[in-house]
Amino acid sequence: MEENKKIIFSGIQPSGNLTLGNYLGALKNWVKLQDEYECYYCVVDLHAITVRQEPKDLRRRTLEVLAIYLAAGLDPEKNTIFIQSHVPAHAEGAWLLNCFTYTGELSRMTQFKDKSQRYGESISAGLLDYPVLMAADILLYNANLVPVGKDQKQHLELTRDIAERFNSLYSPTFNIPEPYIPELGAKVMDLQEPTKKMSKSADNPNSYILIMDPPDVIRKKISRAVTDSLGIVKYNDEQPGVKNLITILNAITGMSIDQIEKKYEGQGYAQFKLDVADAIVNELEPIQKRINEILNDKEYLESIYRKGAEKANYVANKMLRKMQKKIGFIPR
Ligand code: TYM
Repeated sequence: MEENKKIIFSGIQPSGNLTLGNYLGALKNWVKLQDEYECYYCVVDLHAITVRQEPKDLRRRTLEVLAIYLAAGLDPEKNTIFIQSHVPAHAEGAWLLNCFTYTGELSRMTQFKDKSQRYGESISAGLLDYPVLMAADILLYNANLVPVGKDQKQHLELTRDIAERFNSLYSPTFNIPEPYIPELGAKVMDLQEPTKKMSKSADNPNSYILIMDPPDVIRKKISRAVTDSLGIVKYNDEQPGVKNLITILNAITGMSIDQIEKKYEGQGYAQFKLDVADAIVNELEPIQKRINEILNDKEYLESIYRKGAEKANYVANKMLRKMQKKIGFIPR
């Protein structure tokens, strides 16, 4: 029965072109969860404006991310798929939760520390506050599980702390959500500097594979991926480049690490790299085709995000009213 299903919430920012990291760390996993859980998948445009966005690019990318969700296999009949700014309760919920979060907690977040190094004094207050908005996203739906890549784990721990604090100050209100980090592909690394996470904001385009990269570009980027001079396909920390390619192959094909190591024993990297590139192309090509079809049907997209927002508003507003009542606001 629907009511007994556990609840899932997750989202991706429309702040750049999505990468293979977003796909393997989040999306591919979400698709597997849609039958077993009640899922809310959101395009988090409020998060995206924590760094400057060109309005027309933000509009385009928001629809692109929605199209990617659908093309990757999320069924709009089974999942609630929506745009964050269409549900005002997220912003309001974030304000309430702000008052239960300490600035010390926020300034200790690794992602904030990294970004504040890059932007210095002119970092937006939104970037500091970003994890509280994320907590509101999750808690408004009373999510039990949050499927994300490893880089979001710390933000999720803060969400749990905020939820526990609210529950103990008032009375049990929120489920305490658990991170749901995939075994495979939880942290896809940069192809040029394989000790760093693959990120859409890297300066060198050879560092990442985009979900929308054409096959020849994918093959070129994999052939240029940094490895080492050992020439052995082995999964270990001394060979971070090779380890990353093994992880990608394993996450896409399901072939075990053992099987991969055996298959390429004594062969060097040439065939291995060709096969990794093939696996990525085979996985992404059909998705790319569907993305383009969906983007050409704006009415279809609109019908999905409208319907998603209707359901999401209903659920989120109910929780928001509960929070307001406990805090002591006069009901409208
Ligand atoms: P974002 O948009 O940076 O990334 C979206 C998802 O992709 C995962 N990811 C990766 N996984 C593996 N390897 C990588 N190299 C890699 N890069 C990104 C991320 O872990 C994430 O799961 N704050 C979030 C968005 C968000 C959210 C939420 C997530 C907002 N509200 C509520 C869950 C629940 C973010 O910026 O993700």
